[in-house]
Parts: sequence; C-alpha cells; structure tokens
Amino acid sequence: MKSAACLPSLVGAASATVGLLVPLYEYPSGTAATTDWTALIAAVDAHPQLPFYVVINDGNGPPYSPNPPSSMPDWAQYIDALNSRANAKTIGYVYTSQSTRSYSDLTAAVDQYASWTTSAGFTTNASRYDIHIDGIFFDEIDTVPTKLTNNTQLTTYAKTKFAERGGPIVLNPGTLVQAGSESLFDLADSILQIETCYTKTEGATDPGPILRCPSGGYSPFTPALAATVGNASQSAKSSIVVHDFYETWSPFVPASLSTLQTDIAAVIKQGVHSFYFTTYGYTTNFTASPASITQVADYAAQLQGLS
Ligand SMILES: *[C@@H]1O[C@H](CO)[C@@H](O)[C@H](O)[C@H]1NC(C)=O
Ligand SMILES: *[C@@H]1O[C@H](CO)[C@@H](O)[C@H](O)[C@H]1NC(C)=O
Ligand SMILES: *[C@@H]1O[C@H](CO)[C@@H](O)[C@H](O)[C@H]1NC(C)=O
Ligand SMILES: *[C@@H]1O[C@H](CO)[C@@H](O)[C@H](O)[C@H]1NC(C)=O
Repeated sequence: MKSAACLPSLVGAASATVGLLVPLYEYPSGTAATTDWTALIAAVDAHPQLPFYVVINDGNGPPYSPNPPSSMPDWAQYIDALNSRANAKTIGYVYTSQSTRSYSDLTAAVDQYASWTTSAGFTTNASRYDIHIDGIFFDEIDTVPTKLTNNTQLTTYAKTKFAERGGPIVLNPGTLVQAGSESLFDLADSILQIETCYTKTEGATDPGPILRCPSGGYSPFTPALAATVGNASQSAKSSIVVHDFYETWSPFVPASLSTLQTDIAAVIKQGVHSFYFTTYGYTTNFTASPASITQVADYAAQLQGLS
C-alpha cells in the first residue's frame, strides 16, 4: 500500500486550483455504473493538474458489519484506481441526520473508514487493492448555532483522524452557513454551501418516485447564486454542487453546453474549493450530456488553463 504521506499535497494545491467534488453514489456493478466509474478514472487521467475529490458512498455509509463491507470486492478496483492517481482523493460518506446522529455513531463511522487498507477484488481474491480513504464527507449538517459545539467537535475529530491522509473533511449543509457558525470555515476543508437543482421545473425521479426539485423548495442555480457563498476566504472553503441540469423534465430538454460553460465559469470565478454539475442525480447517468463527467472536467481544466 502506498503511503499517503508520499503523495504531493492536494491540500495546498486545492486552495489555488478549483477541484471537482464528485458525488458518484453509484454502486460499481453492471454496465451502466461501471461505464460511469471508468469515465471518472479517464477524466482524472486526462487532467492531471485538476484535483478530484470523490465521495465514496456504499449504501449510505457506515456502520458496516463486517467492515469493510462484504460488497467491497465490487468497489476495490475503483477505489484503488483513484488512490493510485496523485490528483484524486477519496472521501467517505457519513450522514449526520441534521447534526443529530449520536457522536459515538459518527466517530465510529469515521473510524471505520480510517481503518480501510487493502481488499480483494471482484476478479481476484488476492488482497492487493489499495482501498484507503483520504477524508470524510459529512452529509446533512445543520449549521444552526445551537449545534455549533457538536459540529465543531465532529469536524475536529475527523480532521485529527485523517490529518496524515491530507483530507479533505467536507461538511454538507447544502445551504449557506448560518450566522453564528462561521467558525466552521476555520475547521473544515470545505463546506458544501450550495447544493441545488439547475432546472426550474419539478418532476425528475432518481429513480422514482422521489420528487427531486420540488417547486418552491430550492433556489435554482444561477451565476448570481454562486456569488452568495461569502467573502474570499469563505469562498475558498466552499463547494457548490448542481444537479438536474436540464431546462424542462417533460418533455426532456437538456440545458445547453454553453450554459454549462457559463455556469462553471461563474463557479470558478468565485474561487471555491470544489464543485460539480451533473445532468441528473448522483446514482446514475454520469456520462449523460450535457453535464457528463468528461465535459465537466474538460471545462474545469480549460477555464483554469490546466492540462
Ligand atoms: C450533541 O451531541 C450530544 C452527544 O451525542 C447529544 O446528546 C446532543 O443531543 C447533541 N446536541 C444537538 C443540539 O444535537
Ligand atoms: C474467491 O473466494 C470465493 C469464496 O471463497 C470463491 O467462491 C471464489 O471462487 C474465489 N474467486 C477466485 C477468483 O478465486
Ligand atoms: C470573511 O468573513 C469572516 C467572517 O465574517 C471574517 O472573519 C473574515 O475576516 C473575512 N475575510 C475576508 C478576507 O474578508
Ligand atoms: C440514465 O440512466 C438509466 C439507468 O442506467 C438509464 O436507464 C437511462 O437510459 C439513462 N438516461 C440517459 C438519458 O442517459
């Protein structure tokens, strides 16, 4: 297993280079899913100067019993492929239930990811795949100030646990950090402050019958929205993820490539830590136009003058 300490530091590079935060919550089995995972690895290779922070989410995260989960042979070759690329970091998904999940469950989840070393793969039983995890993605964070103490304790725990791996530790409230909790910017590597739909219409399912973009329930993404993440130092520690990148669902009218380029340019101009745009949701269709992994990575690199 390669020592994470030998890798070039992405933490330093990320403050200058806007990376991709890829919520590829897709179980890597079957043609559609492995096509998406293969496209991700190809994009990582196509843009060696672009940081990729890939959320690893097998069935909503720990607790796993056994740990690593018995599904790991399906994942191993892909986690290993990311771990072998200097510009990719794997971050383990942990939900927090609006920052109410018990501290002992949360630290146990962090500890489970931190313990991953090697695994057998789907086609071989040899434990030769490097499945280490570099950081943590805490979902469903509530930044109400009454939960600041708990959020602070949790973020600090993960930062310490993953200090040698280099992180990142990402918090996901999905909305702007509430007044009174700004100190979280000093602790986390990034806070996903805007997680929203591009479309202004409702009706998509992922898969059904989940209403993904309920009318009135969100602010559709616009370049102006990107500018709300805060001042320069807060921007540098913010992430933005936009899903459902189409004009209308029924009939299905995808957004245009020029809109995608314009919107990605607005996000990069903001100097955020990382971002992502996806045509649908997080569990399928990462190769679907216009916001395919290939296209999003190409624009992210081009707009920053990276290879
Ligand atoms: C903070 O965490 C403690 C310990 O897990 C828990 O008992 C308490 O309810 C949490 N507070 C809030 C506001 O969620
Ligand atoms: C791996 O081990 C399992 C369980 O022992 C066995 O069923 C399977 O045939 C083995 N696969 C290979 C490729 O050796
Ligand atoms: C950004 O805002 C935070 C919180 O209000 C403040 O502490 C910090 O000094 C500001 N930074 C800049 C660069 O303006
Ligand atoms: C999205 O993914 C699903 C599941 O793989 C597939 O059935 C569907 O055809 C895809 N849609 C597009 C437009 O790629």
